[in-house]
Amino acid sequence: MSILIKNIKKLVQVEDNIRLKVAGKDMAHVQSIDDGWLFLENDKISGFGSMKSLPDINAEKTIDATGKMVFPSFVDSHTHLVYAGSREIEYIDKIKGLSYEEIAKRGGGILNSSKRLQAASEEELYHAAKLRIEEIIAQGTGAVEIKSGYGLNTEAELKMLRVIRRLKETMPVQIKATFLGAHAVPAEYKGKQTEYVDLVINEMIPAVAAEDLADYIDVFCDKGFFTVEDTDRMLMAGIKYGLRPKIHANELDYSGGVQVGVKYNALSVDHLEYVDDEEIEALLNSETMPTILPGAAFFLGLEYSPVRKMMDAGLPVAIASDFNPGSSPSGNMKFMMSLACINYKMLPEEVINATTINTAYAMGLSEELGSIAVGKKANIFITKEIPTIEFMPYAYGSDLIDTVILKGQIVKLLNC
Ligand code: NIG
Ligand code: FE
Repeated sequence: MSILIKNIKKLVQVEDNIRLKVAGKDMAHVQSIDDGWLFLENDKISGFGSMKSLPDINAEKTIDATGKMVFPSFVDSHTHLVYAGSREIEYIDKIKGLSYEEIAKRGGGILNSSKRLQAASEEELYHAAKLRIEEIIAQGTGAVEIKSGYGLNTEAELKMLRVIRRLKETMPVQIKATFLGAHAVPAEYKGKQTEYVDLVINEMIPAVAAEDLADYIDVFCDKGFFTVEDTDRMLMAGIKYGLRPKIHANELDYSGGVQVGVKYNALSVDHLEYVDDEEIEALLNSETMPTILPGAAFFLGLEYSPVRKMMDAGLPVAIASDFNPGSSPSGNMKFMMSLACINYKMLPEEVINATTINTAYAMGLSEELGSIAVGKKANIFITKEIPTIEFMPYAYGSDLIDTVILKGQIVKLLNC
């Protein structure tokens, strides 16, 4: 299949030389081509440029994008989108004033989802997750990381990861799987946290690796969840099996999670509501992508991560959705862009970099996704007619996506 898209009002986030990530002041710059064309062959981008210099191209399909823009698909580097059931009852508890930690202590939160996931079949979990993925595809996402972590015993963690493997095999989006056995201490290990950590290390990690079910390992390193010492042990064990860390850190307090993540060369440390000079210092000169999850901070009413301070210090920043039933029941990356602009005072160009190249880096995929560059995967979307790129985060409730192309195939066509 070959597709030529022509008369593109703006071809956004183009690169002649592929960058693995964008940091500091560079985040405020997005390179674009006005009145452009884009040629996709098979599953790859094979050329682009300005309409003034459109070569003679013989395409099987031509799309006229007059008035519309083309973006690289969003990359969502942090989700928990395989889950059983929703948790709107806790949402009411939250409205009434209970904190995330209080809900968790009462057996709500992650343990509530865990009970339901343990009772669900692989088939049920697959179909529910498939619907969620179809929804985020329509919202412009072209790659997504999915974590386990609602199983909390070996069998159920493996079940979740097998569902993620099936999604990898059947869905047009690019998927990476992360093992998050250390998401919470299950009820039967209450008061015996170290024993649960031992179970993760001695039984779960080897079992996950034996079936090659995960790309990465995660730990919820935070106040009331896993300590730095627990995290240290589990990350070391994961690395022995080839699982690079991508961890939850500093959502609820200064947990030491950023430092332990950097110590083990984590691909990303995520949440980061609590970040000060020490955390910034640890992240500078590291290969770890600081990732913020504006949906969770919005939904739970958390502190806002000091993103501007991080960028001023020269750090890159990525933005992911955290799509999960407890703290961010949405995987809408365009809405995450809007939240990041409004609540974190990020500029539209900064949020474009944060939701494309930098999240691609945080999934280990920035050589193949995250920008419009020759040789990269043909994962893009065409907008409806919009006046400017700033209009994307500005019109925060509008569906502005017209056509989605993943791996060079049109997967959604609306109004055209
Ligand atoms: O990223 N912080 C830990 N885990 C999830 C919440 C999952 C849940 O509440 O089910 C998060 O916010
Ligand atoms: Fe999360």
